[in-house]
Amino acid sequence: MAGNRTFTMIKPDAMGAGNAGAILKMIEEAGFRIVAMKVTHLTKERAGQFYEVHKERPFYNDLCEYMSSGAIIAAILEKDNAVADFRTLIGATNPADAAEGTIRKLFATSIEANAVHGSDSDENAAIEGSFYFAKTEQF
Ligand code: CMP
Repeated sequence: MAGNRTFTMIKPDAMGAGNAGAILKMIEEAGFRIVAMKVTHLTKERAGQFYEVHKERPFYNDLCEYMSSGAIIAAILEKDNAVADFRTLIGATNPADAAEGTIRKLFATSIEANAVHGSDSDENAAIEGSFYFAKTEQF
C-alpha cells in the first residue's frame, strides 16, 4: 500500500524569485497537509550528504553548489498516495518536459534549478524527512 507522507524542498531559485508562497499555496490546494516545515540554508557538505545517491553523476558538484547557494524550505507533507501525487503535482525533473500547470513548468528555470524536490519512494521520503526533522518535530 502506498504511504501517506512525502518530503519536499523549495530550492534556492524559487526562494530567491519570491515564489515560495505561491508554491506552498499550490501544495495545500492539491490537498497536502504540512506536517513539518523550516527555512534553512545548507552548507555544500550537507547538500552533498542529502544528494549522496547522485555522487557519481556529472552534475553532482554543481548541484551541491547550487543547493547551498541560498535558503531553502524543507517540509514533510501528508496526503493519501503522497509520493506519486506530489510527483504529479511538481512535474518532470526537466521543466522543458514538465506538464502544463505543474510547479516545475510554472516556476523552474532549468533541469538543475528546478524549483522543488520531491521524494521518489516511500522509503526515501522517510529518510529525507529524517535528514531535516526529528520525530518530535513532525506533526
Ligand atoms: P531533484 O528531484 O531534487 O533530484 C536530483 C536533482 O539533481 C534534480 O532534482 C535536479 O536539481 C538535479 N539534476 C538532475 N538531473 C540533472 C542534470 N542532468 N543536470 C543537472 N542537474 C540535474
